[in-house]
Order: sequence, then structure tokens, then C-alpha cells
Amino acid sequence: MLKVCIIGAGMIANSAHIPAYKAYPEDFEIAGIFDIYSPAAEKAAATHGIPRVYTDAEEMLKTEKPDLVSVCAPNMLHKEYTMLALNHGANVLCEKPLAFTLADAREMFNCAKDAGLTLMACQSLRFLPERQAAFEQVKSGAVGEVYYAELSRIRRRGIPTWGKFHLKEFSGGGALVDIGVHGIDSAIWLMGNPKPVSVTATMSKIHSDELGSDKSSGALKGNVDTSGFNPDDMNVESFSGGSVRFENGATLSFKVAWAANLREENNIILAGKNCGVDIEAKKVYSGAEDIKDLEVTPNGFKDDPFYGHFCLVKNMAEVINGKASPAVLPEETLNVTAILEAAYLSAKEGREVKINV
Ligand SMILES: NC(=O)c1ccc[n+]([C@@H]2O[C@H](COP(=O)([O-])OP(=O)(O)OC[C@H]3O[C@@H](n4cnc5c(N)ncnc54)[C@H](O)[C@@H]3O)[C@@H](O)[C@H]2O)c1
Repeated sequence: MLKVCIIGAGMIANSAHIPAYKAYPEDFEIAGIFDIYSPAAEKAAATHGIPRVYTDAEEMLKTEKPDLVSVCAPNMLHKEYTMLALNHGANVLCEKPLAFTLADAREMFNCAKDAGLTLMACQSLRFLPERQAAFEQVKSGAVGEVYYAELSRIRRRGIPTWGKFHLKEFSGGGALVDIGVHGIDSAIWLMGNPKPVSVTATMSKIHSDELGSDKSSGALKGNVDTSGFNPDDMNVESFSGGSVRFENGATLSFKVAWAANLREENNIILAGKNCGVDIEAKKVYSGAEDIKDLEVTPNGFKDDPFYGHFCLVKNMAEVINGKASPAVLPEETLNVTAILEAAYLSAKEGREVKINV
């Protein structure tokens, strides 16, 4: 039985982390929750039956001595709270993006390694059944070496209007670090985690009159307080496009949007030397005319949009108990972080940026 504490009591804590821990009562007991805004922590504790609410993260860690901490605070606080939890002897499941610089991500993983603890980034969308099916194709050798991949994650209109996602000081970036990070993580995992060597990217924002509408912003359920979203305050990108070059000669092209005047898309395609996979179409292509269905096994969590978190917490319990290796590896998250860091620098300086992971 692992003792768990939660830092940040917003949408993802209430909709994903807490329900996931509660789904495995034989593995986890949630002992305490902390949020800088104490009504949020109190509300979450009352809703989910969490026994203790804290107004200070360090006090919670000192008092509870948890085995595992979920870091669910805004992006810019991920490093601070992860380091705090690791330094108090807790394993950490940290929301994405884990970090904004390769140096920070390295420091975080080194801190975990030196303490004999596990730190894992919450890349929950790898567990989408279609992505798992594509991974099975890659793992079996059917795809062969992937020499090209394409990530398209386009919301016509879907800027998160709860929380502080649209403010750089809290979120560090926009669509790319919010939803693009999942796609880049899944793409490089499917490509076999090749070493990235350079990135070129652009960041854009459509006219602010167009930014307010909220067709599907990603908050599908849970405790969501719209915090007076004003599109004029938005200082992060609503669109990013670019490409990543890898040491093995492969490239990954990406386009990611919270809001764009484009077709809605949520796809990754892989071109391998033996066959290609189109995840959204659920097709596998080989030869001149051979097109097969991608065999997708439904997951056991029905339509819960956050079932990836259930997989991650279960994996975390197995890792801590020495029964499995992490589903999301540090070397994968280091590559994702390096790509994100280089993409923002590339867009800022208008040039290709070299990476040395
Ligand atoms: N894996 C996924 O699919 C997924 C989905 C949504 C959000 N997320 C991530 O989860 C994190 C939180 O997102 P959310 O949707 O829950 O946002 P949210 O705004 O609903 O919740 C954030 C919470 O953090 C609290 N907070 C703010 N400053 C704090 C501080 N200094 N110390 C402690 N708590 C503080 C806020 O009061 C709020 O309750 C983000 O990093 C986001 O990227 C991941």
C-alpha cells in the first residue's frame, strides 16, 4: 500500500489523478492534498474523501512522508514541486510538460536517480488504444525502421479557458507544451526514441476576436472554474508548426493548435521501411495496394478520457514495488523536453536549432 499526496487540486487532480488512485485501493491510499488556493484543496478533499488538507506543501511532505506525490500544479511549478517531493523521499508522477529546458529535466531525473526514486512524466495519451495498437506493430518489427512521422493535433477552437493555460508566466507556452507535448511524446516513442539533433519551428496566434470560443478545450469533466478568460491577455501561441531531425536520418513533422482555421485532426502517421501506419484512419499500408485495418483492442476503461492516468498510476505502483519498469522512460522525456526547448528557441530566433541530448 503506497501513501499518496497531491499537489495542485484543479481539473486534472480531480478528474484524473485522484480517481485513478481510488480505482486501485489495494495499491494506494491518498493521505493529503495541498493547493495554494485552499478552497480548491478543501473541495477536492470533501468530494473524494481525502482525510487531510494542507496549506503548505513542505508541511504536508514532512507530516505525511508519502511514498508517491502527484504534481498537478500549473506547468511553471512542476520543477519546484517535483524537486521538493523528491528531496522529501517521495517518488513523483509529474504532469506534463515535465520541464521547459533539458538542463532542468536532467537535474530532476538525476535528483530522482541519486535518491533511488522514480520520477515519471504523465504522458497519458500513449495509452490511447490506437497508439497502443500502432506500438504493437512497431514492436513486432512489422513497420521496420521509421524514417518519417507526422503529428497533427488540430483543434479548430479549443483553448483551455479554465486555469492559467493562456498565460506564459504560469504555463510557459501554449498549444505546443499543452497538447503538442503528448503528440511529440507518442511520436518519438512510436519511432523508437531516436536521438533528436535539430528542430525548426514557428509559433503563431490567430486574431484575438477568434480565441474566446470554446468548442472542446480538453476539460471534459471535473472541477473547472473558468477564471475569467480574456483572450486579450493570452500571451502564448495558439499554433505551432515545425519539424524535428533525428540522428538516424528520420524526421518528424508537426502541427499543433488550440485554435486554427484548419480541419480538426488528431493523428500520427508513421512511414516505416516495411509498412506505414495511419493511426486516425486505423490503417496499415504496405506494397503498392495492400491496405489492412489496424487491429485496435478497446481498453478496459470504457470512455473515460483520462484512462491513461489509470494506466500510469498502476504502472507507478509496479515500478515502486520493483515489478515493472517505467512506462514513460527518462530518456524519452529528456528527448521530448529538448525538442520543446529547441522549438521555442527556433521560433524566437527564426532559425534551425541544434540539440545535444
Ligand atoms: N495529462 C493530461 O492529459 C493533462 C490534462 C490537463 C492538464 N494537465 C496538466 O495538469 C496541470 C494542471 O492543469 P489543470 O487542468 O488541473 O489546471 P487547473 O488550473 O484546473 O489546476 C491547477 C491548480 O493548481 C493550483 N495552483 C496554482 N498555483 C499553485 C501553487 N503555487 N502551488 C500549488 N498549487 C497551485 C491552482 O489553484 C489550481 O487549483 C498542468 O500542468 C497541465 O498541463 C494534464
